[in-house]
Amino acid sequence: MRRTLAAGNWKMNGTPEMLADLATLTGGASDNAPQIIICPPAPLLTRAADATENGPVEIGGQDCHTNAKGAHTGDVAATMLKNAGASAVIVGHSERRADHAETNAQVRAKAEAAYAADLTAIICIGESEEERLGPDCLDIIAAQLDGSTPDGATADNTVIAYEPIWAIGTGRVPTMEQIIETHDMLRTKLTARFGDTGAQMRILYGGSVKPTNAAEIFKAENVDGALVGGASLKASDFQPIIDALAAS
Ligand code: PGA
Repeated sequence: MRRTLAAGNWKMNGTPEMLADLATLTGGASDNAPQIIICPPAPLLTRAADATENGPVEIGGQDCHTNAKGAHTGDVAATMLKNAGASAVIVGHSERRADHAETNAQVRAKAEAAYAADLTAIICIGESEEERLGPDCLDIIAAQLDGSTPDGATADNTVIAYEPIWAIGTGRVPTMEQIIETHDMLRTKLTARFGDTGAQMRILYGGSVKPTNAAEIFKAENVDGALVGGASLKASDFQPIIDALAAS
């Protein structure tokens, strides 16, 4: 049984005042309680870890450098995230791929840096709108999965997040048929490459997940949770999504 996961990506948003809200989030008491990870901007990590110290919410980074240390002004090493209290880090988000020209090979190296620091890598992949409309969409996503996922990936150290770029922050989501087809393809690929480990790896859907559409999306067998941007900023929006996951 794969444990479900609600991951929140605050992107370049967040103030210290917003952190108290995190302590109110709960996965519920059932055996089905989802894992909850919030990824605030790096300067807020330590405070976020303090605010959630005694609760179920874990903290994650939004990116890490491929190297463990060195002359990389403005960058953050995976071990630094770990030392700040993080248990996970997002790598290869489409905004990083677009703003910083990150390649699959770099994303893979970042995931390896995460493993070395004992962090779970949340590896993001997903197609552009043009690619979705073309004939090779699933092949393109499969190639991203293959190129961005290290050979050392396990169900413990890796989560895959499928995020269509055109669905991020737009209020548009793929049809359920598209979500099911894509996640089933990802599961098949992971199982072919990693065997039972691939069958146990979590696959999240991301892109305009809201309290209003979460329950429907979580019905898909190979959707193991969500990576949520805008709707993770307030507990009043994120808690209903966690609840929908717990009920799924
Ligand atoms: P969104 O962002 O939920 O605001 O669409 C998702 C993401 O970019 O991870």
